[in-house]
Amino acid sequence: MGPIGVFDSGYGGLTILKEIRKALPQYDFMYLGDNARAPYGTRSFDVVYEFTLQAVKALFARGCHLVILACNTASAKALRSIQQKDLPAIDPSRRVLGVIIPTVETLGDISANGNIGLLATPGTVSSGTYDIEIAKFFPKFRTVSHACPMWVPLVENREYDGPGADYFVEKDVNALFAEEPDTDTIVLGCTHYPLLLPKIEKAVAGRARIVTQGHLVAASLADYLSRHPEIDAECSKDGSVTYLTTEHPDKFTGMASVFMEQPVTARRIEL
Ligand code: DGL
Repeated sequence: MGPIGVFDSGYGGLTILKEIRKALPQYDFMYLGDNARAPYGTRSFDVVYEFTLQAVKALFARGCHLVILACNTASAKALRSIQQKDLPAIDPSRRVLGVIIPTVETLGDISANGNIGLLATPGTVSSGTYDIEIAKFFPKFRTVSHACPMWVPLVENREYDGPGADYFVEKDVNALFAEEPDTDTIVLGCTHYPLLLPKIEKAVAGRARIVTQGHLVAASLADYLSRHPEIDAECSKDGSVTYLTTEHPDKFTGMASVFMEQPVTARRIEL
C-alpha cells in the first residue's frame, strides 16, 4: 500500500490536492511539484512528456500505485502515451489519471447554449485535447480556446493579486469574448488559475459561468476508487500528505502554504 501521487509542474496541482483532501480525507497523498522546471505550458510536447514520465516514475518508486496528473498541460501532452505505452511496460497494475476528462464530462450540465470558452496554457491549447474531448462528449458544442501565457508566471511569482494580474486577466478574458461573444461557460483549464479567480470573475462580470476543476477531479477520483476496489486496496489511509519539490524546499513551502492555507513542509528530490 502507498499514498496517492498528485503531480504538477509547480504549485497549481495544490488547488486540486486541496479539494481531493476535502473529499477523501482518510487517504495518504504524496504531492510532487517540478518547480525547478516550471512552467511546462510553453514547453514542447516531447519535453512535457519526458518530464511527466520522470515524475510518474519517481512517485511509483516512492510507493504510489495511483498517480493523478493534476496539471492540464501534462494531462494534455503526456497522459495518453503514459497510459498506453509506458504503463504496460513499467507495471500494468498501476494507474495514472488526468484532470481533463473529469472536467469535460460535466460541461453538459453547465452550458445552456453549448458555447464553451477554454482559458489554458499555450501547451494545453495547442494540443487541442479539450476541443477533441468536448467534441466526443458533446458533438454539438463549440469550443473557442485562448492561451494565457502570462497567467502561470504571475501565480508562480506570487503576483496573482497584484495590478499586473488585473491587466493580463482582463486582456485574455476580453480576447476570448471578442472571439465568441455568446460564450456561456468558461473552463479554467489550468490548475494554477483558481488563484486568479477573483480577478477572472471581475473580468468576466457575469457574462459566463466559470468552471474550476478541483471539486470535479475530487468527485471523479472518489467515484473511480469506489468502482475500482483493487486500486483502492493499494491506497494507504492514514490521512497524511507528503510534499516533494524539485526546487529548494524553503521556496516551495512559502508559496505552498498560501495555496493550502496551512503550513506545509517539503523535501527536495531530483528527477
Ligand atoms: N498547472 C499546469 C496546468 O494545469 C500548468 C502550469 C505550467 O505551465 O507549468 O496546465
